[in-house]
Amino acid sequence: MAIKFSKNEGRFILTTKDTLYAITVLHGRYLVHTYYGKKRPAPELKFEPCVVSFSPYKAEYGNQYSPDVFFSECSTYGAGDFRPSALRIKNTEGNSVTEFAYKGYKKYKGRHEIPGLPFARVGEDTETLEIKLEDSVSKCELKLFYTVYYEENVITRSMQITNNSKGEVKIEKCMPLCLDLEGYDYDLIKLWGGHCYERNFERTPLCHGTQVISSSRGASSHQFNPFMALCDKKTGNDKGDVYGFNFVFSGSFENSVHVDQMENTRVLVGLGSECFAYTLGPKESFDSPEAVMTYSPDGLNGMSGNFHKFINKYIVPEGALEGHRPVVLNTWEACYFNIDEEKLVAFAKEAAKTGFDMLVMDDGWFGKRNNDKAGLGDWTPNPEKFKNGLGSFIKRVKAEGVQFGIWIEPEMVNPDSDLFRAHPEWCLRCPGREMSLSRDQLVLDMSNPRVVEYLKKAFTDVFEGLEIDYIKWDMNRHLSEVGSAHYGKEKQDEVMYRYVLGVYELCRFFREKFPKTMIEHCSGGGGRYDLGIMQYCSQIWTSDNTYPYSRTPIQYSSLLGYPASVMSCHVSNPGTNMKSLDYRFKVAVGGVLGYELNILTATEEAKKIMAEQVKLYKTFDRLILTGEHYTVIAPVDSRFESHYFINEDRSEILLSYVERKNAGAGKILKLRVRNADKTAVYEDRISGEKCTGKELFDGIEVISEGEADYARLWHFVKI
Ligand code: GLA
Repeated sequence: MAIKFSKNEGRFILTTKDTLYAITVLHGRYLVHTYYGKKRPAPELKFEPCVVSFSPYKAEYGNQYSPDVFFSECSTYGAGDFRPSALRIKNTEGNSVTEFAYKGYKKYKGRHEIPGLPFARVGEDTETLEIKLEDSVSKCELKLFYTVYYEENVITRSMQITNNSKGEVKIEKCMPLCLDLEGYDYDLIKLWGGHCYERNFERTPLCHGTQVISSSRGASSHQFNPFMALCDKKTGNDKGDVYGFNFVFSGSFENSVHVDQMENTRVLVGLGSECFAYTLGPKESFDSPEAVMTYSPDGLNGMSGNFHKFINKYIVPEGALEGHRPVVLNTWEACYFNIDEEKLVAFAKEAAKTGFDMLVMDDGWFGKRNNDKAGLGDWTPNPEKFKNGLGSFIKRVKAEGVQFGIWIEPEMVNPDSDLFRAHPEWCLRCPGREMSLSRDQLVLDMSNPRVVEYLKKAFTDVFEGLEIDYIKWDMNRHLSEVGSAHYGKEKQDEVMYRYVLGVYELCRFFREKFPKTMIEHCSGGGGRYDLGIMQYCSQIWTSDNTYPYSRTPIQYSSLLGYPASVMSCHVSNPGTNMKSLDYRFKVAVGGVLGYELNILTATEEAKKIMAEQVKLYKTFDRLILTGEHYTVIAPVDSRFESHYFINEDRSEILLSYVERKNAGAGKILKLRVRNADKTAVYEDRISGEKCTGKELFDGIEVISEGEADYARLWHFVKI
């Protein structure tokens, strides 16, 4: 059993393969966090110091307990804990003081299913601890859920609040993950960025006060990803303590790390308060999205490995890792909006000859979509571009011997569209305020069920009966003037949150209606690269930046929190530079390979090389989808990058080495494959060279070439 309760000590112990998590019920009432980290004999609750000056306490417990000093499983607002709170509920009296007392627990196999939201699936050994608490004033019941994924060293957390009062209460802040850690001798790793430069790695020491990583954009965003980690100062790729955190949610979020007066650290992950509030009527419940945490003593690779296994097994759609992912040829960078049937059939013909599996028709096929100023929302094929409709066009594409994929952006509308002219009230808007544009578009009110139902019908009308193998679902702006004509005044501050519920509802519809169609998610590249959306798609377009020098760090950081199986990477136009084509390919096979270039103008030599690349990729793509990933050299403060994938029985290894811009010549580097089988002999299928596992373990020596665009791959197979 991964979850135990010892009645004598009032202590819950949650164990995973390598970690232990302990909670103590103090004075029969307070839920005190006791320990999280490496597995060891159950640690005792520390009582010193209990109360310091200016820390509130209750007369009954005197100086034995102050919420301001003790570690909490769910700190609440206004009742003596002055650190950032996890939960704040405004009660029927009109104040927001929130205080919950322990009432009991349940533990069971499986998990609590969160209505309307994505959440991790269960495995055979999944167990859940459900702790019940009550607030005697607001008359709210709180359930804290801890779901243990034993093998993956992951614990997920969510909460449910039920209003048992006779009036309305308002949840003003909701952070399902509250973790207090001793000391503050940690570095914070966060991934910041923007459009075309997503997920830049930043590692800074913690300092007193609060650091916040958040999005108020209605999407998890390019700007800050919900993944973050805390690690020991000495932590490197393979050694050191690391705590990793994430949130199974695709909208606005707030993660914070606070170092308090006692020099301890509080981590919060959740919805925050700036973009979230939710009113509960009598007997109504609210279920929070799920937060995820892991711990590893084995450095950043250890933490990433836990997340990769967890996501591949319990988050991405079932079946997503089976077989081979199609190598796509996408039309965007080749054609932009300038597409039509004849051109794309010609693309399909060349794509098939080159060995690509699929043609993906990107933006520009519908409405009056000849540029980004018009047509979004009008999901009918443009008759000037597709004279006989989509069906006959798709048949022609397939007759050439490739599968077919199509681009959509369901959540958006251009003011210059029939949909907007018919239903201006279906956009997010606030009375009296001008709606801001972004990329010339407005945001549909996905919190309004009528809008979601309309979209379901619109896409059914156009896609039903067609053989569409892949959908690229895009989202090209963030939410402003967030208000909904569908709800009354009292619900307006729920719209930002309900928007995401509407998106998930439409995602589920697509998966159910078109079960054979694979979905690639995209938001101007990787602007919604999160665990929520990953439940509904096999892969995500990593970034609109396909320049390989920029891609290398983006891919490195994406792999810190997310597996390679979701990371869609395209080779874009190398011009006539065949060395660059080779380099772009070797960078792109850090994840799921695709191409995005004009196949009609590509030279015969380029097409021959691409055909060889696709063939080669298919000899090791299963390793990328399902293997373990290890960084050897992180492209952070380094002119080089190296990583490898290895399969479970260590019989196959894909090692990659990339020189970044201006790498310089003559530097000797050792690429250590620490997980190679030291007793084995391997052969590199690419060069034909042989080497022992011991040699791989000790490190392959490379001397940097220093010329532009140099990278190398080794595909070692045990012989
Ligand atoms: C976004 C995507 C691109 C492309 C365009 C189409 O920017 O990231 O890949 O699909 O939209 O408008």
